[in-house]
Amino acid sequence: MAKPRDPAKTAPRTGPRHVAIIMDGNGRWAQKRGRPRLFGHHAGARRVREIVSSCPDFGVKYLTIFAFSTENWKRTQTEVAGLMSLFRRYIMKEMQEFVKENVRVRFIGDRPRLDAKLRGLMDEAEAMTEGCTGTNLTIALNYGGRDEVTRATQRLARDVAEGRLRPEDVDEETLPRYLDTYVLPDPDLVIRTSGEARISNFLLWQSAYAEYEFIDTLWPDFTAKIFGELLSGYGARDRRFGAVSA
Ligand code: FPP
Repeated sequence: MAKPRDPAKTAPRTGPRHVAIIMDGNGRWAQKRGRPRLFGHHAGARRVREIVSSCPDFGVKYLTIFAFSTENWKRTQTEVAGLMSLFRRYIMKEMQEFVKENVRVRFIGDRPRLDAKLRGLMDEAEAMTEGCTGTNLTIALNYGGRDEVTRATQRLARDVAEGRLRPEDVDEETLPRYLDTYVLPDPDLVIRTSGEARISNFLLWQSAYAEYEFIDTLWPDFTAKIFGELLSGYGARDRRFGAVSA
């Protein structure tokens, strides 16, 4: 049986290598200005660009952002359609920039429910940036942690049923290979903006040992400067992974 991965051996000693962000507060940001919620989402999309560009300066090699959850379909049809159109336009507009900035783009989440045009653009973006070796940007689109574990378990069960995997060989190393994030390291730091202290079904398995930062700033106000300040706070922490300090 493979030995469980020891997070204390793989985690960085200084700043976080992998930061995951729950970008919350776009709606309230727009409301405060008397504008429709989509206005806030557009402002939020502009912040994504700024934060992605700042990653090399801060030594963040992996950035994972929660753009649309499996629960977000419950929003009004206008908001859902507006967000889908924003994602399509965002991918079309930003891809050349990402290639120029050496950003490798990946998507996680359940794709079949997304429309064919968007799925095509997602495939294209992944293919176009495949050779990029700078920041690894992962966009969670129609993503839910429980949904991801459920889909992973279905694939794992199929491998067992078809004789490719023995039940006794399933351990903490095996299961993550079936997750959408199988090529990514676990996040070291998870940030949520807008004052809500919830994880909302984001990276449930992967964040077992992550640090969390819940900050009041609404996502469209989240600047690279604020990002840098949060990251420097992280360096001062003592991550023990269940052990005691040396
Ligand atoms: C949560 O704010 C935000 C979302 C559901 C969408 C996140 C999308 C973006 C930041 C836009 C673009 C992203 C990409 C990758 C192009 P909310 O609407 O729940 O805000 P509220 O809690 O104030 O209502």
